[in-house]
Amino acid sequence: MSTDALYDRIATIYDPWSVSVTEDVELYVAEAVASGGPVVELAVGTGRIAVPVAKAGIRVIGVDQSSAMLARAREYAEREGVWELVDLRQGDLREPPVDERVPLVTVPFRSLLHMVDEEQKLRALRAAASLLLPGGRLVFDVFAPSREDIEETDGLWLEREPGIFERADWDLRTRTLALSVRGSEEATTFELHWLSAPEWHHLIEEAGFVVDDLYGWFDRRPYEGGEDQIWVCRRPR
Ligand SMILES: C[S@@+](CC[C@H](N)C(=O)[O-])C[C@H]1O[C@@H](n2cnc3c(N)ncnc32)[C@H](O)[C@@H]1O
Repeated sequence: MSTDALYDRIATIYDPWSVSVTEDVELYVAEAVASGGPVVELAVGTGRIAVPVAKAGIRVIGVDQSSAMLARAREYAEREGVWELVDLRQGDLREPPVDERVPLVTVPFRSLLHMVDEEQKLRALRAAASLLLPGGRLVFDVFAPSREDIEETDGLWLEREPGIFERADWDLRTRTLALSVRGSEEATTFELHWLSAPEWHHLIEEAGFVVDDLYGWFDRRPYEGGEDQIWVCRRPR
């Protein structure tokens, strides 16, 4: 089943499910403001990042496969009074329906891990590169789990937010996380496919980027081998 249908099933609980995820907003907004915009956000979801970017005065083109997630993003942008700065388009991030060339492309909240293998990740990175002006930047975050994280969560239903449960099933052989989410009526399972930092670095360079920075957290501390990787890549001039 495509991730389109998978996210359609949880669009109504996506925001309450991810309500505690706020640590990344400031970095993405700062990058957007520094770029001057417009920004293309691939896998824009419900606008969790795109709407704060628009509220900072930057135009955002948001691409997502899921019509239900895009409908939530539209509601959010309207509610916050920034709909005129948010341009939502339904499509696959590997073939984004975007003719514009921009100074910044972002893929927040681990969305590139929906790409099942290195070939698909490379397709996505190349698609991002094709949207950038010379000298433009791609910023995205991904993770690779620690052994402790796997041991603490594997196969357990945990109440992540009131009434919203999450279960992680880790497959170390294929490096796949099957993440299940359920609310009172909604439920879905989708897969995330992680890579090591050196593997990402290789793919990023193969897609034609130069790596400007690799952070280990959204406060821009350097990456020192932890779970989170925040990549800042540049398309050479
Ligand atoms: C974890 S959510 C991230 C949403 C948003 N960027 C955020 O930070 O909250 C992942 C999103 O990726 C979208 N997605 C997954 N595969 C996709 C693809 N191939 N093309 C476009 N969107 C995709 C899903 O529909 C979902 O909205």
